Amino acid sequence: MLQEEGKTLQEEEKKYIINTYNRNPENNPLIVRGKGTFLWDEKGKQYLDFVGGLAVNAFGHTYPPVVSAIREQIEKFIHTSNLYYTAPQVQLAKCLVENSALAKTFFCNSGAEANEAAIKLARKYSKLHGGENKYEIITALKSFHGRTLATLTATGQEKFQKGFEPLPPGFRYAQFNDLQSFQSQVNESTCAIMIEPVQGEGGVYPAEAKFLKGLRRLCDENNLLLIFDEVQCGMGRTGKLFAYEHYGVEPDIMTLAKALGGGLPIGAMLCREEVASGFSPGDHASTFGGNPVVCAAALAVLEGLLQEGFLEDVAARGAYFLEKLELLKKMFSGEVQEVRGKGLILGLELNSSGLEVQRSCREKGLLINCIGGKILRFLPPLNVTKEEIDSALEVLQNAMMEVFGVE
Ligand SMILES: Cc1ncc(COP(=O)(O)O)c(C=O)c1O
Repeated sequence: MLQEEGKTLQEEEKKYIINTYNRNPENNPLIVRGKGTFLWDEKGKQYLDFVGGLAVNAFGHTYPPVVSAIREQIEKFIHTSNLYYTAPQVQLAKCLVENSALAKTFFCNSGAEANEAAIKLARKYSKLHGGENKYEIITALKSFHGRTLATLTATGQEKFQKGFEPLPPGFRYAQFNDLQSFQSQVNESTCAIMIEPVQGEGGVYPAEAKFLKGLRRLCDENNLLLIFDEVQCGMGRTGKLFAYEHYGVEPDIMTLAKALGGGLPIGAMLCREEVASGFSPGDHASTFGGNPVVCAAALAVLEGLLQEGFLEDVAARGAYFLEKLELLKKMFSGEVQEVRGKGLILGLELNSSGLEVQRSCREKGLLINCIGGKILRFLPPLNVTKEEIDSALEVLQNAMMEVFGVE
């Protein structure tokens, strides 16, 4: 029997799953179904999903082209290995390359793995060209790059590192949006600068154009590689296919994951042709990386994003959403510190805890995310409608009125 009699699923979760997510039945619904921007729990309650699988569900839930692509590939074969050629993997790499400034791709299974691959490639390439001592990477404070040992060390937030020491050497930190701070960390061991063009987990902070342009210059002047972590802000989230397109700055290495697989796990690391020569056969690999089912799903996602006018619509709906959040800020001026973001990655920073607002929204049928205790983050599907945005805003306003009182 799958579930012990008399026990709820939540009780069994507590018994059998290591508590890393701190779920509890009051705050975390048991999801049984999804369609478009909506999710349903086991009691039949409907939620407007503005968490979007944490920037994964670019086309919401059960997007028909992704479902068909998965079904078609599963019926052919699910997995072989990277000992053999498979068409979806090559087609996906070609599509990513043809639509980006990068030339070559490596596939893995998550954002952390994509960043791990980027870190390894940056070191290998730089050691080959600059000597054994070229291995240090400068990252930003408040960044988030993953949970493996190297990527949590790259992550410029101590809370993710505590208790896991000794951390791998070779990382330094500088202030986001502060070129001088990055400049001051460059030394003879530096091989790369790694940055999110829009910081996600750190609190939804878009980079300034002059900062990213300055980083590009700094890298060029010092023979450093510029790595953009677009795991969260890539794949159309900001209203361009890749966030760097807003800035007129091209990276040497870029990492992707989250939305790329339409809900299936995938990561990708792309790089310039010359940089790709840093890896030789055997230097890096992944058993599941480039799995045909996942790559077929990702191709369907890319096709959706590349539809004529789709990304312009993302930008327009994002701008509309942001404008309405600005109005909420005015309405609750004593409670809201700032609203910010780009496209459909938006944040509303409160002066106090956002957990009560998040709870009230959930009770009223809207799922939103709260990061760092005070920042409400909105990551709706990229095909969210204006009406769905209006519904979400109405719930949010009611929740804020309930928690803060009518302003
Ligand atoms: C910018 C960024 N990089 C890397 C990661 C890690 O991705 P994953 O959880 O797929 O390992 C995340 C996850 O939130 C992220 O936002």
